[in-house]
Amino acid sequence: MSGWESLLAEVPRALFIPDTIWVDDGRGFTALSKHQDPTGWQAAVDADAPVVTQVDGGQPPAGGVGGWPSSSCSQPSLVADMLTALAPRPGDVVLEIGTGTGWNAALLAHRVGPAGRVVSIEVDPELAEHARSALTAAGHEPLVITGDGAAGYPTGAPYDRLISTAAVREVLPSAWLAQLRPGSRLVTPWGTDYANGALLTLELGRRRTATGRFHGDVAFMRLRDQRRSLRSWEPDEQQITDAQLTTTTCRGRDLDRMLNPAKGKFVIGIRLADTSLHVEWDKHGPGRHTLDLDDPTTCSFARLEADLTNPAPFIVRQLGPRRLWDEAEAAYDWWHGHRAPGPERLGITITPDTQTVWLDKPTTIVRRWSLAPPPPRQPSEETSPWPHESAENWVAPGFVET
Ligand SMILES: C[S@@+](CC[C@H](N)C(=O)[O-])C[C@H]1O[C@@H](n2cnc3c(N)ncnc32)[C@H](O)[C@@H]1O
Repeated sequence: MSGWESLLAEVPRALFIPDTIWVDDGRGFTALSKHQDPTGWQAAVDADAPVVTQVDGGQPPAGGVGGWPSSSCSQPSLVADMLTALAPRPGDVVLEIGTGTGWNAALLAHRVGPAGRVVSIEVDPELAEHARSALTAAGHEPLVITGDGAAGYPTGAPYDRLISTAAVREVLPSAWLAQLRPGSRLVTPWGTDYANGALLTLELGRRRTATGRFHGDVAFMRLRDQRRSLRSWEPDEQQITDAQLTTTTCRGRDLDRMLNPAKGKFVIGIRLADTSLHVEWDKHGPGRHTLDLDDPTTCSFARLEADLTNPAPFIVRQLGPRRLWDEAEAAYDWWHGHRAPGPERLGITITPDTQTVWLDKPTTIVRRWSLAPPPPRQPSEETSPWPHESAENWVAPGFVET
């Protein structure tokens, strides 16, 4: 048993899971009450699977069938993976983004011990309150802040470790690196609108430059202000019928590679900027799938009709200023031409000005983003969050050259 697996057993998950959880029964998420179905509740808590603890931002529709999970307690084996990558040590000061139930914060507090400190930020006030109560009842003392974790928590900085349990979409919040100590480590799920993504582990080096690698295939809920609906913009059927019509030489095998997270999906999602993917399998019968790409910012849209039962070329319709299908094919060709890399061959370098995802070595750029300048360093006027520290010791470092 690894160190984390035994720690997971020492800090029981059940203490943090609310009495009502949400279970996907195929129609949507329905409530499962600990009091009405104690066996079902316990089985969900004991499984190596995520437990959905809130749906629809806490406001499920009348009738009680929730549409989308807005908070969950993550899958225990994935929690162990992320904590292994983070490697917090006794005495560390740790920032967690996405408190959720508070279980991960309790695990962190257990690991850093009395000499360390854990701050955890939850955007949803009700969830934050539940986590505070559960943590207190279980005898742990992380500081739970209600707020937007994208801003970090400068009052508690600098941190030795930062873990986000909500996913970053493309650009890492600049406040996170600004609040880390040189030599520190950050772990977060990272993805694009096209692909859920992978786990990113970053180390902050000298001159406020962080370097990291990706691994795995993970699906986390997004940081709340980085969410975009999967169908954020869609033209009507008439517009799609009138769109530019072409065919493609792509076949089923190519589509498999474009959609498979273990194959090209991650890299294609990075090359294909700001583009959501939506696939309807068997939409027009077995083997007749529809793949839509859309960019709501430019109102660009592409639809591929893939009929695997027919040798005729697949039909493509595109409209708007971007030709999204052509871009997707170009991204696929790039992936294929670079020996079909999965996430493990990708790395990232973040400076105060740019974020660059690269392949194998920093000079082979997959994509580069220009970053907005970080906020100017402000002396903190807040009092220390720590009972035995003075506020002066805990001023956010900003982008200080090291
Ligand atoms: C996968 S859950 C967290 C699981 C949690 N660590 C646990 O142990 O139960 C993700 C959480 O991130 C929260 N979240 C999303 N965006 C956030 C943001 N911008 N700031 C803080 N929390 C956020 C969600 O409300 C949700 O509770």
